Amino acid sequence: MSDIEVKDLPEVKLAGPVITVDGPSGAGKGTLCQMLAAKLNWALLDSGALYRVTALAAKQHGVALDNEAGLEAIAAHLDVQFKVSAEQAGVQVILEGDNVTSDLRTEETGAIASQVAAVNAVRSALLERQRAFQQEPGLIADGRDMGTVVFPSAELKVYLTASAEERGQRRYKQLIESGKNASLAGIIEDIRARDDRDMNRTVAPLKPADDAIVIDSTSMSIETVFEQVQQAAEKAGLLA
Ligand code: C5P
Repeated sequence: MSDIEVKDLPEVKLAGPVITVDGPSGAGKGTLCQMLAAKLNWALLDSGALYRVTALAAKQHGVALDNEAGLEAIAAHLDVQFKVSAEQAGVQVILEGDNVTSDLRTEETGAIASQVAAVNAVRSALLERQRAFQQEPGLIADGRDMGTVVFPSAELKVYLTASAEERGQRRYKQLIESGKNASLAGIIEDIRARDDRDMNRTVAPLKPADDAIVIDSTSMSIETVFEQVQQAAEKAGLLA
């Protein structure tokens, strides 16, 4: 008999390390996550896109927002592909064979997504799909509950926030620069309504994990935020 006890054996990690980035919409998570994924050469999970795709699929199939069983079935059977193409910048999202990339980012889809995301059965149906993104050499997970629910043992957890006014200004600028009409007051109001829904829902409410680093980007450039997270990643032994 070996004198090595089972408890002495090293823990075998079956999947790669995870950095979670949670926070309200418009805080700069998307840009930060893309910068981190590029720097580390890790995979990226945009969990918000899964809730947005669920919202679009529910709309397409005529499932009402108060039909929880219907929404759960939609989330459980999502036929979605995320394609990186050389011709088009960014990730192309294909839902049931149709390219829905441009519909995905609209304010309307975001608002429906946050209502769909408040349904417990939808969150459960998407949980394993999100966990399946964990891989070598590592994963950057962008969302609201990445550090609290989906990847509770992530190696590094970041909670990125900014004031509603600042996030509204950033969104307003983006819309105006892309030639769209927008009302700053309306955008800030929508952001507040979405924050309220995301932070006060009973399942997986938006909040920092107990062990998260909280960064307020209100008066900080994205480069400074990136540097701070990079330093934290280095400290956690995640940078080669
Ligand atoms: O991040 P994004 O704005 O694309 O997310 C859309 C909506 O999906 C959020 O307002 C939020 O309600 C929901 N969401 C969530 N949990 C996540 C990611 C997004 O509840 N992990």
